[in-house]
Amino acid sequence: MKIKVGVVGATGYTGEEIVKILTRHKNVEITSLSAIIDKPTKFSDLCEECKDTVDIICKELDTLEVIGACELVFLALPHTISMQFAGQFLKAGKKVIDLSADYRIDDKTYKQWYKKEHADKGNIKNAVYGLPELYRKKIKKASLIANPGCYPTATILAVVPAIEALKKNGTIIVDAKSGVSGAGRNSPVVLSFLKGDHDAKAYKISEHQHQPEMIKILSDVANRDVKLMFTPHVIPTLRGILATIYIPIEGNLKEEMIFEKYKEFYKNEPFVRVCDIGKLPSLKNVVNTNFCDIGLKVADKYLVVVSCIDNLLKGAAGQAVQNMNIMCGFEEKEGL
Ligand SMILES: NC(=O)c1ccc[n+]([C@@H]2O[C@H](COP(=O)([O-])OP(=O)(O)OC[C@H]3O[C@@H](n4cnc5c(N)ncnc54)[C@H](OP(=O)(O)O)[C@@H]3O)[C@@H](O)[C@H]2O)c1
Repeated sequence: MKIKVGVVGATGYTGEEIVKILTRHKNVEITSLSAIIDKPTKFSDLCEECKDTVDIICKELDTLEVIGACELVFLALPHTISMQFAGQFLKAGKKVIDLSADYRIDDKTYKQWYKKEHADKGNIKNAVYGLPELYRKKIKKASLIANPGCYPTATILAVVPAIEALKKNGTIIVDAKSGVSGAGRNSPVVLSFLKGDHDAKAYKISEHQHQPEMIKILSDVANRDVKLMFTPHVIPTLRGILATIYIPIEGNLKEEMIFEKYKEFYKNEPFVRVCDIGKLPSLKNVVNTNFCDIGLKVADKYLVVVSCIDNLLKGAAGQAVQNMNIMCGFEEKEGL
């Protein structure tokens, strides 16, 4: 038995990744692909890697057509655009997995960080944050998934097992590096990278819109207000996030004890791998996979955790399909 699935924003970086995963998914039939597009075009003519494998036509988005064709819809759209469409699909009884930030935080915080009034406030409370390692039970019953951001995925997975050890009033420092695809296909940073400008730089220190998302989820897990400072960087690679996270810890916790805690926390998780003591993760082992690799070291009064993901997979499309698998009762690793 297959479900009928659509991807809105199919020509973008994450949309294309979703399509590629769905083509090898045994429980899915792709029935609709859409984006902003001048004329209907065979998807395999838009995506070189899908040549001769995806015959379906990608069209300009028509919500009624998507509703007629699909049971579940992925929204791989920019933030502030998803919220214009998600409500219509939900009202028609469709399951929705939104990759944008539109349903991840409350509407006041959203307005403060995304500089726009939320257009679908009513549905924010219905959204489940789609991080399976924390919210699998809720995801199973959800109709609307707020798929986590890429930096928050790498950070939250790295911090959660140590949250009880976080020093009272201590500030978690997140120093994260992303490949250029994190900014979307048409961003100036991608275009200059593709032209050969292989630069690296920090940006938006403590002003990045993913910071409140990290704080919200970590505070919910800790059951107290968590303080966190986040500096993102762009590095000269196409895909991957490497986050180094400094967690001030209480007392004299031994590295072995913390390591055991991480191993125990993730022992049944199919996509989180904890490195052995003395080893640290690297991007090359996670790029093109749905894994999050985590390594740690205690140094002075800090637990330093290094976390690596592919921003387009565990940080976006892979996690979105993982969420679909959980929502629909499929094997969680199917297609991934
Ligand atoms: N890139 C990442 O690593 C990453 C990670 C996690 C989450 N996300 C989030 O995922 C979402 C998609 O990101 P992305 O990197 O895939 O962006 P992208 O490469 O810029 O793709 C955006 C897609 O949305 C389409 N689109 C834009 N406005 C539209 C509209 N009004 N109606 C129909 N289609 C529209 C675009 O069509 P055209 O190409 O024809 O304009 C394109 O297919 C964003 O919200 C982003 O923040 C991205």
